[in-house]
Amino acid sequence: MLLFALVILFHFCIAFGASCNCSPVFIPVHVDVFVPKDPTDVFAGLKSNSSSLRRVDDIYNIYGVFCQPESMPTRDPGVLQLLVHGITYTNQYWSPSVEEFQNYSYTAFSCDRGLSSLAIDWVGVGLSTRPANSSDVQYPTVASALSQLAHHLKTVSLLPGVPPFRAIIGIGHSSGSGLLTFTAIVDGTRSPFAAFILTSALSDSGAAPTAPSPLIPSARDDTPLRWGALDPGYITAPSRSIFYPADSAAFSPRMQLFDAFTRDVGTVAMLAQTGVVSLVAQNYAGRVAKVLGAADQFICADDRCEDVAALSAAEGVLWPAAKSFELVVLQNSGHDLNLDFFAPAAFRTLVGFVNKFSR
Ligand SMILES: *[C@@H]1O[C@H](CO)[C@@H](O)[C@H](O)[C@H]1NC(C)=O
Ligand SMILES: *[C@@H]1O[C@H](CO)[C@@H](O)[C@H](O)[C@H]1NC(C)=O
Ligand SMILES: *[C@@H]1O[C@H](CO)[C@@H](O)[C@H](O)[C@H]1NC(C)=O
Repeated sequence: MLLFALVILFHFCIAFGASCNCSPVFIPVHVDVFVPKDPTDVFAGLKSNSSSLRRVDDIYNIYGVFCQPESMPTRDPGVLQLLVHGITYTNQYWSPSVEEFQNYSYTAFSCDRGLSSLAIDWVGVGLSTRPANSSDVQYPTVASALSQLAHHLKTVSLLPGVPPFRAIIGIGHSSGSGLLTFTAIVDGTRSPFAAFILTSALSDSGAAPTAPSPLIPSARDDTPLRWGALDPGYITAPSRSIFYPADSAAFSPRMQLFDAFTRDVGTVAMLAQTGVVSLVAQNYAGRVAKVLGAADQFICADDRCEDVAALSAAEGVLWPAAKSFELVVLQNSGHDLNLDFFAPAAFRTLVGFVNKFSR
């Protein structure tokens, strides 16, 4: 327990060098949505009639780490990157909380290049509100919290001296990309997001698990001391190896250990509802980029990411109203683009898209 507390503490204390200011923030959001009564519904209720839905109406406190360049920002100060982690991760995916792994901080990398960011914890995860009932933590709930948050950031000052942002760019990893896709489907032309950069997610990633298993156990069985009181629908992923390239020379074994040590929870619904990324975002009119790692053992298995043109065409069809759609495959990266030795290439790609989408 103490170690976990230290990891969190470190987070507040680490300075990214003189050029970046970071602050922890809690932002309350009001979520009022319909979720499927069956949390294993792969389409998260988007294809259901009202009799198979129920309402979730609640206020959640969303935790995040806000970072901004200290000196006069070189880039447009009105643009904010909203960073959304994947399942069993937290905001720390975007900035591992120890000195040794500072080179793996996208937050620091982008801040050094004049970009502000807010890396949040999903509803139910990390320091954000954790509903007692895991079946309240579904795509509609968590995605709505992101949309509400983005609206909030465009209308209300986040901290003294930080005016509301002109544009929010949503950057997701894995199911974080799925969540942003869900907001695009539901919000359409009313989306608060100017653009999306969706990493490590494709529309056809195969069937997702719908129940806890030895690989994805209930969190309370995995770590009773930390999670013993949680409802069994909260799950975790003890083994992280599939998130790294198969080539063990492509990543630091210490990073994999740190990753396992800092893992968090997800829910059965958040595992199961990945079918939403195969649906068409009919009316979303902003810009969209997808970024994949060719060595992603999960999303790009069976050489699925080899023919980039074909993949780009297939994925682009799902964004018919988008102002632009681009897809990039990074040659050596694994599923966790940020955590292997090729992270700098991934970071340059993300910053390149943010700058392009900010113009
Ligand atoms: C609503 O969906 C449920 C579950 O798919 C189905 O059993 C039921 O017949 C549907 N009801 C209507 C009115 O379509
Ligand atoms: C981080 O990156 C810098 C610049 O590439 C390099 O000089 C330094 O050795 C790296 N540090 C670690 C701990 O990998
Ligand atoms: C969670 O909420 C659902 C829907 O209201 C309910 O069916 C289920 O019994 C609840 N589970 C627990 C553990 O309270």
